[in-house]
Amino acid sequence: MRRGFAAMPFLVALLPIIVSSARAENLDAGKSGARLFADSCAACHRSARGLAKGRFRLTLYLFLQQHYTSSADSASALSSYLQSVDTPAAAPARKSSARRSSDRREARPPRPPLPVRGR
Ligand code: HEC
Repeated sequence: MRRGFAAMPFLVALLPIIVSSARAENLDAGKSGARLFADSCAACHRSARGLAKGRFRLTLYLFLQQHYTSSADSASALSSYLQSVDTPAAAPARKSSARRSSDRREARPPRPPLPVRGR
């Protein structure tokens, strides 16, 4: 009982530090992804476009959280933003399907092109 009371002054002395560090963590709270990007990323990345590179949102989120943003909320907002402005990156998917169709073409004899409709 006595020891608990003895700790009180220390806790009271620590309170401003605890409160101020909590406030520092919340500096970016409530900012939109676009705002976060303009504030903390645009200095090095001129445009947000093309940064996501078709990555999954979770991959992006983990990357951002690990490398850049201190809070999960900012990382989440930023990854959504980067995805929303990303150029449609269907290139890898398109390439693999193209390869598959060319494989099919090799396996079968060549076919004439489709007849033009409406003739
Ligand atoms: C101090 C400069 C700097 C700042 C600030 C910065 N970045 Fe980067 N970023 C880099 C460099 C350098 C690379 C690695 C080179 C590359 O891949 O273009 C990189 C890579 C990335 C990549 C991976 C790109 C890829 O091609 O794989 C993403 C995504 C990214 N940054 C997003 C952000 C976001 C979001 C922010 C803001 C929170 C940010 N960056 C702030 C310098 C910076």
